[in-house]
Amino acid sequence: MTQTSNDESRHPFLKGLSKHRGAPPTVVVIFGASGDLTARKLIPAIFNLGVDNLLPGDFHLIGYGRKPIPDEEFRSLMDEAIKQHSRRPLSQEIWERVRQHVSYHAGGYDDAEAFASLAAKIDGIEQDLGREVQRLFYVSTPPSVFSAIVSNLGASGMAKAHQHTKFASKVIIEKPFGHDLESARELNAAIKNVFEESQVYRIDHYLGKETVQDLLVQRFANSIFEPIWNREYVDCVQITVAESLGVGSRGGYYDTSGALRDMIQNHTMQLVALTAMEPPVSLDPESIRDEKVKVLKGIQPLSLDSDGGDVVRARYESGMINGEPVKGYMEEEGIPEDSTTESYAALRLSINNWRWKGVPFYIRSGKRMARRASEIAIQFRRPPGILFSEGNKFDVAANTMVISIQPDEGVTLVMNSKIPGLETRTQPVKMHFRYATTFGSNTPEAYERLILDAMIGDSTLFIRGDETEASWKLITPILEHWQQSGEAGMAGYAAGSWGPRAAERLLADNGHEWRRSG
Ligand code: BG6
Repeated sequence: MTQTSNDESRHPFLKGLSKHRGAPPTVVVIFGASGDLTARKLIPAIFNLGVDNLLPGDFHLIGYGRKPIPDEEFRSLMDEAIKQHSRRPLSQEIWERVRQHVSYHAGGYDDAEAFASLAAKIDGIEQDLGREVQRLFYVSTPPSVFSAIVSNLGASGMAKAHQHTKFASKVIIEKPFGHDLESARELNAAIKNVFEESQVYRIDHYLGKETVQDLLVQRFANSIFEPIWNREYVDCVQITVAESLGVGSRGGYYDTSGALRDMIQNHTMQLVALTAMEPPVSLDPESIRDEKVKVLKGIQPLSLDSDGGDVVRARYESGMINGEPVKGYMEEEGIPEDSTTESYAALRLSINNWRWKGVPFYIRSGKRMARRASEIAIQFRRPPGILFSEGNKFDVAANTMVISIQPDEGVTLVMNSKIPGLETRTQPVKMHFRYATTFGSNTPEAYERLILDAMIGDSTLFIRGDETEASWKLITPILEHWQQSGEAGMAGYAAGSWGPRAAERLLADNGHEWRRSG
């Protein structure tokens, strides 16, 4: 098939893409199309890419799911999803051009015939267009059917369509990618039977966040931080991914997961890797991912000793959030009476390499914490207390660089300053950079960036197979230990607090304290 038409003449609203980003004509198939993620994130992201002229001229979207839904009803559901969840209001004019190429395909995930008819449908789209299209499969289903979908994509021939050309098929796999090391390995093996690694896009939506991408820019596009970004100057690193929300209506899912699987294994470990990695030799995906894997592999196995170990888990109890009383974890809908799932986990990591040996990385994530705040705090060593100290009275604070991932995205530098007056007294002061002030606040959502990157074949912001396994390798012994321990060692914290007292010990052992984020 030859390329016979020009994107921009067919769809003037799409002008710009082929010049700037060059995604080839694409059919996106979303497995799990009637799910929550599709409505909340995927469809609004696709709409906003349309608004920004970043969809290819020939763009088709097929929703796939078990429930039969007529095409027009599916389109109306997608209209509603945009109205409710898009960062920009629904523009009928722009959406209509995408909408007319939206359809729905009903079928089971292990139903070979339904996959064969899906393949025929996409072949039909190619024939109608008179040109080749790239197939982009978005697997947004419960993980239990990931393998069945991948194997049917292979058996139906869709995975191999136009292989080794720019139209090669791609597959985006949502989290959770496995539930432990063994299942992640099995899933990787199932994928490898069908796809080449270059076709696989394992998603971690934190990598699509502007502030997370900016971490590499802050580190490697400035010359003032890198010389002090090491064990000589850094005292500790604290990474917090806190949410004020509880498990809400997701109790059934969440209880099979817990904070360690849901947030630490993926999002938080990615923040560790980006904070600690060496400068990559270039910005190509493999160079960056090679450096991240090295960090993950350099993290020492954790001590699981329930008294002095590196790990703390806890569950929220009833408390107050924004002045409103909220339930404890065990009272939430869908949580079994004998649940031993944690809603909070904190870890003390040691990275055994030249740069970080001896610098503790404290990481924590929890639901129903005091407020939504994700941040990376680099705490530098204190200056020697010989000048501005009188006993401990005027002791100076440690300099801290805080990269605020969300909300209130920005970077803050905490430094010491003289309090005006006749005495020489010091006080920590803050220098702020705020994205919203400098760049305005309507920045793209993570999913916009990630879907666009997958369409243009850039896997930098996706997780490579060995990366996910390295992270599971670290986390799995903790999960196994907790499973064996049942309730033993489970701490509690009041909803609306900064987590359990037990987690203070992790830092106190080294004379550190958790920051009160914000
Ligand atoms: C998801 C988790 O991956 O990330 C959720 O499954 C969590 O439990 C969410 O709430 C947090 O994402 P964000 O972008 O709101 O920080």
